[in-house]
Parts: sequence; C-alpha cells; structure tokens
Amino acid sequence: MQAVAEALRTARHVVVFTGAGVSAESGIPTFRDALTGLWQRFDPAELATPEAFRRDPALVWGWYEWRRARVLAAQPNPAHRAIVELAGLVPRLTLVTQNVDDLHERAGSGGAIHLHGSLHAPRCFACARPITGLAADLREPQEGRRIDPPRCAHCGGPVRPGVVWFGEELPTQALEQAFDAAQSCDLLLSVGTSGVVYPAAQIPRLALQAGARVVHVNMQPVEVGGAREMSLVGAAGELLAALVERVKAADGASHSHPS
Ligand code: APR
Repeated sequence: MQAVAEALRTARHVVVFTGAGVSAESGIPTFRDALTGLWQRFDPAELATPEAFRRDPALVWGWYEWRRARVLAAQPNPAHRAIVELAGLVPRLTLVTQNVDDLHERAGSGGAIHLHGSLHAPRCFACARPITGLAADLREPQEGRRIDPPRCAHCGGPVRPGVVWFGEELPTQALEQAFDAAQSCDLLLSVGTSGVVYPAAQIPRLALQAGARVVHVNMQPVEVGGAREMSLVGAAGELLAALVERVKAADGASHSHPS
C-alpha cells in the first residue's frame, strides 16, 4: 500500500481503469461475481447481443430499463469519490471505464472514456440516431418486465440501449484514447474488473509492456507477473480511499520540509 502511494505521489500520468467492481458498493450488480453476478442469473446471449434484441426487443429493452432504473436510484460510492480526489492530486489522470453507469460522472469525474458505451445514450437500432430526453421508466424497476422499446421519431426503428453488446465493435476513438493513455502512463490502477472481456482487458498489459507499474484493486487476489505488477486485495471503496489519504499525507509531509 505504501509503495503504491509513493508511486502515485511521483507519477506524472496515472490511468485508472475500472470495471463493475467499482460500482458494486453502490449496489449495482457486477457480471461475474458468484451468486450475485448478472451473468450468474441471466444468459448474456439472451440479453446482451444484437440477435437477442432482434428476437425479442421488449425483453432486452425491459432488462436494460431495469438496470438503468437501478443506476438512477444508486449513488456514487467512496471508490468513485476517491478517483475524483486522486485526479486533483496527480498532474494527469485518465479514467477509462468498462461500466455503462454514470456513477463516475455523478461523483465528479470529467472526461471518462466509456469503452462499452452508456445506459444513458440510447439510439435508434435502425438509423443509429441518438435518442434524447427519454423519460426514465420510474415505475418500480422489476426484473424481467418486458417493455416495448420507444420508436425513433426519424425512421420509426426501435430504440436500443447505447451499450456495446457481445459481438459488437467498441467505439474506435474511445479504444484508441484508452490504448494511448495506457501506453503513456507511469502507473495504471485496474479497479474492480475480472479482466476477461477483450479488447478492454488488454489495457493493463499494454501499460505493463510500456514500462508502467500496474496495481490491481480487487476483492479477489489477481495473479501478477513481474515486479512492476501488484495486487491489492479488498473493497475498492476502502482501498482507494486509504491510498488517497496516504498520498495526501505524504504530500503534506513533503511540503513540510523547509525549502
Ligand atoms: N471492490 C473491488 N473489486 C470488486 C468489488 C469491490 N467492492 N466487488 C466485486 N469486485 C471485483 C470482482 O472480484 C471481479 O473481479 O470486480 C470484478 C467484477 O468483474 P465482472 O463482474 O466480470 O465485471 P467487469 O470486469 O467489469 O466485466 C467486463 O464484461 O459483461 C461484460 O460489458 C460487460 O463491461 C462488462 C465486461
């Protein structure tokens, strides 16, 4: 922990790469956690592919509206807030997220790179026009409730969630920006991701190969390679807040020496 705080204090450019684990303490289900993960309870092929949407748009749209309602009802947690604070303590911080919630933004992070899109960016399935001003279905979110998707005002096509489904390309610019940041940073914090979904999962490796230090913050131990890779085990909310406190304390100490 102290070594990581020291590395944060001296880093010129930090990348924070987040997955569902950073929103877990806000009550948002992750995907692969035993018992509670969404893919333990639902079949991604039934809900998170273009084919699934073509086959049964009301089931897929209803499921994402349930997830969107849960995000709207949730609050950012100490992990999101620690990342905002960290951005004020280092010269440059690039936030790259796989999450489709807006909890980083609601905590105060600006410019987050969303590799897998957003629940808050619906678009027409047919003509791809963005759909704005979609009222959240504020009825009590019920898992499994089918909701017919709204229709695009321009072409009449069904509205789809603005997320990247399995089998779809990631937004090119977002991926390029994320890869560039990973290859130019001194330190990458990988927070709350199982690292099994590509191409996003390449990002920590790219940083390592470019000479950066990589620190995994995860409830589970993450298998690490050489000396520049490290695994901090615990809840992101606790560990990131503790890291920020150490960086601030160290900063205080450094300024206390007579110049
Ligand atoms: N603090 C830190 N880590 C946590 C916490 C927590 N409070 N809770 C869970 N974790 C860890 C789990 O141990 C796991 O390693 O977060 C990780 C969550 O992994 P996944 O559920 O696989 O989520 P993620 O890695 O973001 O999935 C990547 O897969 O389904 C697709 O597009 C979807 O963006 C998603 C992608």
